[in-house]
Amino acid sequence: MNAKSETTHGTHEHAHGLQLRSTVKKEGVLELSLVSVATPEPKPEEVIVRIDASPINPSDQGLLFGGADMSTAKASGTADNPAVTASISPAVMKAMAGRVEQSLPVGNEGAGVVVQAGASPAAHALMGRTVAILGGAMYSQYRCIKAVQCLVLPPGTTPAEGASCFVNPLTALGMVETMRSQGHKALVHTAAASNLGQMLNKICIKDNVGLVNIVRKREHVDILKRIGANYVCNSDSPTFMDDLTEALVATGATVAFDAIGGGKLAGQILTAMEIAANRTAKEYSRYGSTTHKQVYIYGGLDRGPTEFNRTFGMAWGMGGWLLTPFLQKIGFEAAQKLRERVAVEIKTTFASTYTKEISLAEALRIEEIAVYGKQATGGKYLINPNKGLR
Ligand SMILES: NC(=O)c1ccc[n+]([C@@H]2O[C@H](COP(=O)([O-])OP(=O)(O)OC[C@H]3O[C@@H](n4cnc5c(N)ncnc54)[C@H](OP(=O)(O)O)[C@@H]3O)[C@@H](O)[C@H]2O)c1
Repeated sequence: MNAKSETTHGTHEHAHGLQLRSTVKKEGVLELSLVSVATPEPKPEEVIVRIDASPINPSDQGLLFGGADMSTAKASGTADNPAVTASISPAVMKAMAGRVEQSLPVGNEGAGVVVQAGASPAAHALMGRTVAILGGAMYSQYRCIKAVQCLVLPPGTTPAEGASCFVNPLTALGMVETMRSQGHKALVHTAAASNLGQMLNKICIKDNVGLVNIVRKREHVDILKRIGANYVCNSDSPTFMDDLTEALVATGATVAFDAIGGGKLAGQILTAMEIAANRTAKEYSRYGSTTHKQVYIYGGLDRGPTEFNRTFGMAWGMGGWLLTPFLQKIGFEAAQKLRERVAVEIKTTFASTYTKEISLAEALRIEEIAVYGKQATGGKYLINPNKGLR
């Protein structure tokens, strides 16, 4: 299928474009497909962005796969116009009630070139510029969006370099802001060799903030040490709890951001924080240390239950953390400052790496899904919705 040959009306070659869709069918089946959608005529304050790069982040995969068991995925359709189906268990279907039979576009963020602008001066000023945008439906050849939502990338920045300007950079910055605003002096991060984790290390090194990284593989310790991390603890090591406690004593970290969620790690962090707090306490308290210890679960890499024994006194909290409410809380101006920092440091602090660039059709290949679906360290994919179509 080709967007140009699909064009039946409209004067632009971008009058129609392909878009990736995810549908949860009522009979418990996920269906992934590509559809041709008409590009809207931009309103005065809007622009049309040709999306040339959009990352496949874990949060995108939540919407994309709809909780389906992707080991059951089957291909249908043709090479140019593929479709994929996979089964969803009855238990997961209960959580999908809000999206059953809706054909949903996917892709939180992306970058590309403004190819059409509405009549307003703000929109016109963006014509031909390379911009980064956030707001869903980025796995599309063309995306209509308000000019004010476009982050103009510094000259010489490619769409691939600017594709991940929001989700991971703003979350990493948000962690440091949250740490400061809640009176903590250093932080802990899990699944720390992730794309986001590497950014967080660069921020903390640059801004002189104490950071304790937790990874689960020896080679991931090396990745973080190479970029300058001081404290990296391997949860797979027999000395993990001791190593973690020492790092907590050294940094004074009392807040953690946990991307994993399931399993024992969140509780182990609070336990180690309690031991560290008691080690430095001036007097004994029979209710446990009076230092507040906090874990924010901000991802669900392990979907299993969060398990913990309350061996950490009474001054603790465990809760969720999400980027969007954080940005709303700090307000537009503060959030804009963070976005501007990301744009300026997009090739350094906030640089992302991808193992492969794929087209929309390739994103629906079973063998590609098997790779990017693993969410492995250094295994992030980039979708170029216009690959092979222009
Ligand atoms: N709350 C928010 O607002 C927000 C915003 C942005 C991102 N996030 C979350 O941030 C996390 C990182 O995102 P990313 O794009 O940086 O990820 P990424 O680069 O794709 O890396 C994923 C990391 O998770 C690890 N991992 C995967 N499954 C795991 C499991 N079951 N247990 C432990 N570790 C596991 C991988 O390590 P291995 O190689 O060892 O598998 C890898 O280092 C994700 O959980 C994402 O949902 C949340």
